[in-house]
Amino acid sequence: MSNYHIKHLEEYYQVYRKSVRNPENFWEEIAEEHFVWRKKWDTVLEWNFSKPEIKWFKGAKLNITENCIDRHLLTKGDKTAILFEPNNPDEPAKHITYKELHQQVNKFANVLKSQGIKKGDRVCIYLPMIPELTFSVLACARIGAIHSVVFAGFSATALATRINDSECKMIITSDGSYRGTKTIDLKSIVDEALENTPCIETALVVKRTNSEISMKKGRDKWLQPLIDEASNSCEPEIMNAEDPLFILYTSGSTGMPKGMLHTTAGYMVYTAYTFKNVFQYRDNDVYWCTADIGWITGHSYIVYGPLANGATTVMFEGVPSYPDFGRFWEIVEKHKITQFYTAPTAIRALAKEKLDYVDKYDLSSLKVLGTVGEPINEEAWHWYNDNIGKKKSPIVDTWWQTETGGIMITPIPFATPTKPTYATLPFPGIQPALMDENGEEIKGNQVDGKLCIKFPWPAIARTIWGNHQRYKETYFSAFENCYFTGDGALRDEVGYYRITGRVDDVIIVSGHNLGTAPIEDAINEHPAVAESAIVGFPHNIKGNALYGYVILKETGESRNQNNLRKEINQIITEHIGPIAKLDKIQFTKGLPKTRSGKIMRRILRKIAAKDTSNLGDTSTLLNPEIVEDIIKNVL
Ligand code: WT7
Repeated sequence: MSNYHIKHLEEYYQVYRKSVRNPENFWEEIAEEHFVWRKKWDTVLEWNFSKPEIKWFKGAKLNITENCIDRHLLTKGDKTAILFEPNNPDEPAKHITYKELHQQVNKFANVLKSQGIKKGDRVCIYLPMIPELTFSVLACARIGAIHSVVFAGFSATALATRINDSECKMIITSDGSYRGTKTIDLKSIVDEALENTPCIETALVVKRTNSEISMKKGRDKWLQPLIDEASNSCEPEIMNAEDPLFILYTSGSTGMPKGMLHTTAGYMVYTAYTFKNVFQYRDNDVYWCTADIGWITGHSYIVYGPLANGATTVMFEGVPSYPDFGRFWEIVEKHKITQFYTAPTAIRALAKEKLDYVDKYDLSSLKVLGTVGEPINEEAWHWYNDNIGKKKSPIVDTWWQTETGGIMITPIPFATPTKPTYATLPFPGIQPALMDENGEEIKGNQVDGKLCIKFPWPAIARTIWGNHQRYKETYFSAFENCYFTGDGALRDEVGYYRITGRVDDVIIVSGHNLGTAPIEDAINEHPAVAESAIVGFPHNIKGNALYGYVILKETGESRNQNNLRKEINQIITEHIGPIAKLDKIQFTKGLPKTRSGKIMRRILRKIAAKDTSNLGDTSTLLNPEIVEDIIKNVL
C-alpha cells in the first residue's frame, strides 16, 4: 500500500491509524520515497511541547529547490511549471517550463549572491503576483537566504515594521502593480517604508508597469540588467533539515505581527504530501489556487507543494471582477483548470452576480474544488457545489493556519464524503482534540470546544522570529502539552469537524487575519480619539466586517462625524492597509469595562451584530449604564 496517494475512505482510515500509531515510521516512509536528500536524517522526530522545541528529520541535508525544480528536469523539463495569467486578459499568458524555471531561479540566485546575500540573511519580498515573485522566493531558498514575503497590499508602515522586525538586508519589489483597472505605485510605498528601515542595503526593482519612479543611488537597482549578466548555474546551498526557510507574518490578538518561522525539511515533506492528496493531483492536471503568495496559502499551495510534485501551478495577477465577474471562469475554461482553490469571500462575492457570468464558460475540466481561510457558510457552499462543481466535483473545505504550514483538517476528494460547512476529518498525522474551559479534553462525539493539536506534524512553525517566549505563550500555554489553534470547533456524530471561528481577538475579514490591537492602536493615533474598540460583525460577502466603537476627546466632539470616519479609515490604511478599514464607526461616550478595566468585547460584538436579546450578566461591569446607550445608537 502506498501511503502517498489516498484513493478511498477505507484507505484513509488505514493510513490515518498508521500515522497515529507510529508517526515516526509513517513520516519516514513518505520522506524516503518521495524526495531527494543529500544526506538522510539521524532521527525522524524530537519534540517537547513544553519548551517548546520541535525537530523533524534532524541531521538530514537537502535543498528544497532541488526537490521543487532540479529533480523534475529529466522527466518534466518541458512541462509548464508556472502558468502566468496577467491582469489584462489581452496580454498573453506565459507558460514557464521547469527548464525555464530552473534557469530563472539560478540566475536570480546568482544576482542575490552578487549583491552580498548569504545563507541565513533575511530578504523581504514585496511584489505583485508576477513570475518574479516565485523566482525570488525560490532564489532565496536556493542559496539558503530566509525570505519574508509581505503582501503587496500592506502599507508603508506595516511593511517597515515587518522589515525591521526580521532585519532584512534586501527588499525585492517592482515599479508598480496592476489590479483590475488600477495601477498601484508600489515603489513609492517602498520608498516611504525604507525611510525607516536602516537594515536595508539594497532594493532590487522588477519592471512591470513602466511607471516613472525614483531610484535611490547606491541602494536601488533594476533587476533585469543584473539577471542578464548572471550565470544560469547556481549550485544549491546544502541546508540542514531544521535550517530556516522563511518567515511569514501573521496578526496576533495583541501587539506586533508574529513572524512565524518555518524550516526546511518538515515543511517540504508536509506541503508536498498534503498537496498530492488534498487535490488528487495527476500528471496532466492544471492546478489553480487564487490566493496571493503574500499569504501562507500561496507559499504552500502555489509555490512549494505543487512544484515539489512537478505540477503545473497557475499564478493570477488580477482580481475576480476584472474585466467582469466572469474572469475566474474564463480562466478555468481557457487553461482547462482541473483543481480550483479559493476563499469563501470570493465565492460569496461572485455568487451575488448574475449566473450568466458562470454559464458562459465551459467548466467541465474541473475535478476538485477547494476553499480556505474562514468558515464557509451553507449558502456559499451550495452555490459553489451546484454552479461551479455541477455537483460532480467534491469540495475540499481545508482548515489550517499560517502557523500550521499546511492543510490540517480536510476531506480527501473522492474518499471522504463531504458535508456542507464541515472541514471533516484530520489529515493523516494530525491529532486534533477539543478542550473545555478547565483545560480537559472532551472525548466522544457531538461535542464542541477549543481546538488543539496533540502531536507535532512536520510543517508546524518552529518559533516566532526573535520572540520564542511569545511563541510559547501564544500556542503552548493555554493547554498543557498541546498546540492551541485559537479556533473553536465542534465534532459531529461521525467525528467530522466543523470550525466555528476564532475564540480570541483575531477577526477574519475576507479571509484576512486581522488583530484588533494594531487597528485600535492606529485609530488611537488620531488626535481627536481618546479610546477605541474593534469587533467583527457578520457581513454577507466578507464573512466578517469591522465595527469600531470610538470615544472622542472633548476637542473632537464638535467635529463633523463623517469627516472623522474618513480620517480614521485613512489612518488605518496608512498603518495597516485598506483591508483593515472599518465598515462602521460608532462614536460613543464610553465602552463597557470590567472592574479590572478590560473592555467587554463579547457585549460589543453582540451589539454590532444586532443580537441584544441575551447580553448575559452586565451587572458586574464598572459602567453598566453605558450598554443601553450604545445599543440606542448602534449603526
Ligand atoms: C485562521 C488562520 C490557512 C490559510 C489561510 C488563512 C481560519 C482557515 C478555515 C476553514 C474555517 C478557517 C481559522 C484559522 N480558517 N481555514 N476551512 N474553515 N476557518 O491563514 O491567516 O493564518 O488564518 O483562518 O480561524 O485559525 P491564517
